[in-house]
Amino acid sequence: MSYETILVEQKGAVTLITLNRPKALNALNSQVLSELIDAFARFEADASQLCAVITGSGDKAFAAGADIKEMSDKPSAEFYSDDFFAGWTGQIVKTTRKPWIAAVNGFALGGGCELAMMADFIIASENAKFGQPEIKLGVAPGMGGSQRLTRAVGKSKAMDMCLTGRMMDAAEAERSGLVSQVVPADQLLDVAMKSAQTIASMPPLAAMMNKEMVNIAFETTLDTGLVMERRMFQVLTATEDKAEGMAAFVEKRPGVWKGR
Ligand code: CAA
Repeated sequence: MSYETILVEQKGAVTLITLNRPKALNALNSQVLSELIDAFARFEADASQLCAVITGSGDKAFAAGADIKEMSDKPSAEFYSDDFFAGWTGQIVKTTRKPWIAAVNGFALGGGCELAMMADFIIASENAKFGQPEIKLGVAPGMGGSQRLTRAVGKSKAMDMCLTGRMMDAAEAERSGLVSQVVPADQLLDVAMKSAQTIASMPPLAAMMNKEMVNIAFETTLDTGLVMERRMFQVLTATEDKAEGMAAFVEKRPGVWKGR
């Protein structure tokens, strides 16, 4: 599949995906979704690729939301019959077991904020702005904003953002735990790629299981989560990479991973 709305590059073991509709502030239309579904499926299937970074082209936006022009004339019944937006969580988040990072440069609004929150973590540039302004359009978040934002920043801030539609700047996003770090705009991609390369240098099964474990914390009770964590830890002790990792530590040398 050739892409028109995204760019995909492999940089060593890291896949860099760039939303590429800068004139529309990288608004997320159906074509972006289908291209991203394909790109994430290829990333997941390619054994040479161990971590991904998603960012936006241009210096203004990560993504300014779902494409309002595409939605403005769409009949309501079709939103339901198409299960509009279902592919974001269903075919991107649920099927991507390898880690991926959102590098947010500029506006991450509506679906843009929601896409960033689908990533395993967010690194933001100093000029990043996050928001769920759907209320101003007479709607509400539809790609997970009301759920993921609430889990990320708590009820008060999530309510504030969804009900007033106000934007949160990068400093507030970092204080609130929405993003893992804030960096100068001209260093954003470099920092995100280095972070992805660090993850890609880890034992791959351990990386996937660490991701799965943290995600389980959002889905289950503490008791069940703690049991699942122990079981995953125990499963990892059976891998060749565990034997290598512990031997490498004792022998004071870097580990060499097999992914099994
Ligand atoms: N959809 C479609 N096009 C968009 C867009 C969007 N979400 N956001 C920006 N654009 C387009 C603009 O229409 C404009 O195109 P034209 O040059 O053809 O007119 C271009 O991008 C540049 O935008 P602006 O001229 O508006 O740029 P600005 O600097 O003045 O303002 C902004 C920037 C504050 C981000 C403003 O563009 C804005 O408010 N955008 C909409 C944000 C929004 O409401 N997002 C939520 C969408 S709904 C949603 O996402 C639902 C969901 O839960 C999934």
